[in-house]
Amino acid sequence: MKLSARVILGIESSCDDTAASIVSYEENNSKILSSVVVNQNTLHEKYGGVVPEIAARAHAERVDDVVTNAFKEAKVGLDDVDLIGVTAGPGLIGGVVAGVMCAKGLAYGANLPMVGVNHLAGHALTPRLTGNIEYPYLILLASGGHCQFILVKGADKFSRIGGTIDDAPGEAFDKTARLLGLKQPGGPSIENEATNGDFKRFNFPRPLLNRSDCDMSFSGLKTAVSRSLKDLDIQQGGLYEKDIKDFSASFQAAISDVLLEKSKRAIIETRKKFLDLKTFAIVGGVAANQKIRSNLLSVCNGLEINFVAPPLSLCTDNAAMIAYAAGELYALGHESDYFLSPRSRWPLDEKKAPMLGSGKRGAKA
Ligand code: KG4
Ligand code: ZN
Repeated sequence: MKLSARVILGIESSCDDTAASIVSYEENNSKILSSVVVNQNTLHEKYGGVVPEIAARAHAERVDDVVTNAFKEAKVGLDDVDLIGVTAGPGLIGGVVAGVMCAKGLAYGANLPMVGVNHLAGHALTPRLTGNIEYPYLILLASGGHCQFILVKGADKFSRIGGTIDDAPGEAFDKTARLLGLKQPGGPSIENEATNGDFKRFNFPRPLLNRSDCDMSFSGLKTAVSRSLKDLDIQQGGLYEKDIKDFSASFQAAISDVLLEKSKRAIIETRKKFLDLKTFAIVGGVAANQKIRSNLLSVCNGLEINFVAPPLSLCTDNAAMIAYAAGELYALGHESDYFLSPRSRWPLDEKKAPMLGSGKRGAKA
């Protein structure tokens, strides 16, 4: 018998957003009844990045209120809920613990089933929540801690086609923003500055483009920006606003070029095995970048494949994606017990060897 949950509470606390959401789940017709996200930007601002201990404490303090507000906004109560989905990793462990403890308490108190969800699966399944996309589809998951091409064959079946061998693009946006003296998170700040910048002024490296695979590298970009910044500073005796805009635009262009070229390859490679591949989607925080979205749309038009980019509020961290993923997993028979353990690392494709240097240098997972 196929299990089905109608109303799902989702909880997310893996990095610096405390989030809760109520989703009315129905195969091919789910609706988000509420999605509350409280960020911690002001708490971490002065440190220039997310401080895990501060994040964990803030999640623990806020998660109850955030859940209460998600119920209020959706105009439903705990009695109406059929299932609880909670991010159980990967992420900053203290934050994940706060969310999982809240979910366990509610599940126990209300005698509800609970599903521990991989945060990355939440991102990966978002195109189905918003766009009724059929399996299998290919995604570029580009966030603050990850950059991978994943073939999504089912809610619990993921194959990695390629990925970053060092930093994630979101991490590169954040580090470069820091160098340029822009606010965190760096992605939106750089995108904003880049709007009026000259993307041809600085020629930053586009690493690994000469390799035929779908792997990427972004760690050299920060060093290249840092070097150019210093050179220009010495040359001009300071930096002007226009310089920051041009740096932002040139940096964004470099990231975008790498993502575009490697996406092209990932689509072509995947199609060799999966002839019926119909959709390519970008998910994760970096998917909020308009320039990258519109460039990827052109690539997909050229390759005659359907392109999906979720609405901005569902690109960055949120709990609607966790509630939806829980619904999909529950339908497949997944259910967690009270021994559900938070995981700091949890690759989507557990069969593949970890990527070289794979990942987690930044705070985000
Ligand atoms: O998915 P997400 O909210 O958190 C995880 O990493 O799981 O992604 C956050 C990352 C940050 O590094 C942020 O700078 C980046 O996504 N980001 C962007 C934009 N908005 C957020 N990067 C580029 N352009 C944006 N508009
Ligand atoms: Zn995320």
